[in-house]
Amino acid sequence: MSRLQDVTVVITGGGNGIGRAGALAMAAEGATIAVLDLDDDAAAGVVTEIEQAGGKARAWRADITSPEQVGTAVDEAIAWAGSVDVLVHSAGIVGPSMLKDMSVESFERVVAVNLTGTFVCLKALIPHWIENKRGKFIALTSPAALRGQVGGGNYAAAKAGVVALVKTAAVELARYNVTANALLPIAATDMSAKVREDPKLEEKFLSLIPLRRWAGPEDIAPSLVYLASSDSDYMTGSILSIDGGRTI
Ligand SMILES: NC(=O)c1ccc[n+]([C@@H]2O[C@H](COP(=O)([O-])OP(=O)(O)OC[C@H]3O[C@@H](n4cnc5c(N)ncnc54)[C@H](O)[C@@H]3O)[C@@H](O)[C@H]2O)c1
Repeated sequence: MSRLQDVTVVITGGGNGIGRAGALAMAAEGATIAVLDLDDDAAAGVVTEIEQAGGKARAWRADITSPEQVGTAVDEAIAWAGSVDVLVHSAGIVGPSMLKDMSVESFERVVAVNLTGTFVCLKALIPHWIENKRGKFIALTSPAALRGQVGGGNYAAAKAGVVALVKTAAVELARYNVTANALLPIAATDMSAKVREDPKLEEKFLSLIPLRRWAGPEDIAPSLVYLASSDSDYMTGSILSIDGGRTI
């Protein structure tokens, strides 16, 4: 039986990388998929792939830092699908720089997309979930949130904030049967491409991962299926690490 039959998922950043792989995997399990992404070509490509496989999907161009754009997209997705059961918040950016060289603008931009954007998307769905008395919030955090990241202080701070936001949402929203969890991945995507382009950097990066290899985004996707499914109904406020052991 399909594990996500009658489940509708809004997935931000669903056009590329982990979001894309998650959207395809959840659609293969029967979920209806609403993709929110700034990259509308990529989002349209994912919709076509899902439809060609017999699934149901639609894309919205939305900047996750804009409450107006996110609000409109979420309202239209609810009207289109009937309801939205799950938010997978995968959209994110990096802005590499050492702290001594980092501008306030770079810090604020990375926090705006990775942390404020997470709040904006969650907030857009809370009233709907309270009304429905169910919902699942799945946010993407990072090893950087727990360990810091050389050259990524803005990103690490934002992703640590995401963990705190998830835990707060888990406690505040439990009374409405809404769960909130974080997925902590490492995967070979566009976001991590710079590490793979530099053999020395990649060697050092992989030496810190006990499994000594990359995962592909498709290796992360089954965990998104699990978190979106009823199998995870008693799980809330958790961080699920799919990171080759990086955060041990
Ligand atoms: N790849 C990794 O190793 C890794 C590790 C830890 C955490 N993560 C997190 O996982 C998530 C997905 O990462 P990925 O590797 O798939 O990245 P990616 O760069 O492949 O995809 C990110 C997606 O987010 C979209 N996006 C960026 N800014 C946006 C905005 N303002 N509004 C709407 N959409 C926007 C992009 O268009 C893109 O489709 C991110 O939150 C990232 O921080 C990734």
